[in-house]
Amino acid sequence: MSQRKIFLVLVAISTVSLLLHHGGHFSWTMEAFHLGCPAIQSHPAAGLKPKHTNVVFLKTHKTASTTMQNMLFRFAERNNLTAALPVQACSHQFCYPRSFTSHFVHPHTLPPNIITSHMRFNKAELQRLMPNDTIYVTILREPGHMFESLFSYYNQHCQSFRRVPNGSLEAFLEEPWRYYRADEKDSMYARNSLTFDLGGDKDRPTTDVAYARSFVAEVDRVFSLVLIAEHFDESLVLLRHLLSWDLEDILYVKLNMRTPSSKRSLTPGLPAKIRAWNSLDARLYDHFNASLWRQLSALGPACVAREVRLLRQAQERLMRSCFGDRMPLRSAAQIKNKELRPWQPSGKVDIVGYDLPGNLSSGFSSQAQDLCLKLILPEIQYTRVLLRSQSLRYRRVHQLRPQQQSHTPQQPGRTGLPRHRSPQPAAGTRPAATSKPAAGSQSQTTRPKSSDPGLIVGKTET
Ligand SMILES: *[C@@H]1O[C@H](CO)[C@@H](O)[C@H](O)[C@H]1NC(C)=O
Ligand SMILES: *[C@@H]1O[C@H](CO)[C@@H](O)[C@H](O)[C@H]1NC(C)=O
Ligand SMILES: *[C@@H]1O[C@H](CO)[C@@H](O)[C@H](O)[C@H]1NC(C)=O
Ligand SMILES: *[C@@H]1O[C@H](CO)[C@@H](O)[C@H](O)[C@H]1NC(C)=O
Ligand SMILES: *[C@@H]1O[C@H](CO)[C@@H](O)[C@H](O)[C@H]1NC(C)=O
Repeated sequence: MSQRKIFLVLVAISTVSLLLHHGGHFSWTMEAFHLGCPAIQSHPAAGLKPKHTNVVFLKTHKTASTTMQNMLFRFAERNNLTAALPVQACSHQFCYPRSFTSHFVHPHTLPPNIITSHMRFNKAELQRLMPNDTIYVTILREPGHMFESLFSYYNQHCQSFRRVPNGSLEAFLEEPWRYYRADEKDSMYARNSLTFDLGGDKDRPTTDVAYARSFVAEVDRVFSLVLIAEHFDESLVLLRHLLSWDLEDILYVKLNMRTPSSKRSLTPGLPAKIRAWNSLDARLYDHFNASLWRQLSALGPACVAREVRLLRQAQERLMRSCFGDRMPLRSAAQIKNKELRPWQPSGKVDIVGYDLPGNLSSGFSSQAQDLCLKLILPEIQYTRVLLRSQSLRYRRVHQLRPQQQSHTPQQPGRTGLPRHRSPQPAAGTRPAATSKPAAGSQSQTTRPKSSDPGLIVGKTET
């Protein structure tokens, strides 16, 4: 027991010296990782196991997946990894709802370590693209709330929903076949949307139980972990263990939520109708929620509870140091800085986002400012920023070593990462917080003099 205390003290000392040495503003969160679960701690050298860096995260719709994507983008940047991003013609998604192919991937983002932008899942194509030790992860949400969210979010986009009188969810569920057309554009939002995103047949008849069963089994085979949005923090604990990541790697701010007034509570009887209409999704959810809880209980409820508590404490401290005592939560329309304004599907749906407090820069290193900003950067804007920084890096690498262009991957497939954040080049400037983030650390030494030091938006890469 006293040996363990000595060990902890040593760990604390080395953590502190690491912090002092690298000056990371938020690296204190690392201390938490050393307090991991007993099951992990007793494993020799567990803390030194290299982080797993090759990850496919299938981003499903309306499931907290944007929050996950932001976390993975930040992980990729921090660890100098490559995140596959869509070609311009695909917009910020991989030409969704078309089935994914590697032609949708921007050549400057190859070969990838991480892929997380919206796509319709295609296992064979992903296996061709990704390193062979890639871990597959996705997220599901309880079908009742999920469908209410889809119905409200895509109300003006999806024809099946637009036809419904008074925009009434009740009316739709009363007679779904009256409004729904399986082959119409955007019909994937109106029925079994999770199944569709996962590459399945959303219109397989409910009576085809064999199909439903084999589809669930297939998803279970391919994906090492299926997160559950209702149990997000617990899911992240499992993710952290699966990938040997630090607590710091799973810190997040909730993104792309609706304002409470845009949400409707479900009247009695509605959840059952939603489940019947989306029976494939309901089956997926039940299977993977049960499997999540089996995995949590295998890890040990006390251990999970402790990590969840550490995660929330670390999150609170990070929020406070970034944004002061009040989160700068606003409805999208009120956000002054358009770089921080999330996309809104229509005037009827209010999405919340974050504005930056004007005094963010006071006393902050540019690295800390960058982290605060990236935490709240919406999906579309972050995708652009990342594409730009990765393109710059790609060009630099291929200019330096043109002869190795086609055979030497930029990144080792699976790396033993240093356990600390790599020092970022000092940009020399400290512009105001709202124009700070630029295009990630890689770009700062090579950005052409003429380019805008602020968020680069609207400029395209070829
Ligand atoms: C990041 O990647 C670039 C390009 O591959 C490389 O030159 C650089 O040394 C890497 N930096 C770190 C900290 O790994
Ligand atoms: C994965 O790829 C490496 C290098 O390409 C190869 O040596 C290894 O055998 C592959 N492993 C599996 C399980 O296919
Ligand atoms: C739509 O709303 C109007 C007025 O509130 C109501 O009279 C009508 O019955 C509603 N239609 C349906 C299909 O709910
Ligand atoms: C998921 O499963 C757990 C354990 O069986 C249960 O307590 C929980 O209510 C389920 N969650 C949902 C949203 O159904
Ligand atoms: C910004 O200023 C406000 C009011 O002066 C203060 O309450 C808040 O704590 C400051 N935030 C930061 C991050 O310094």
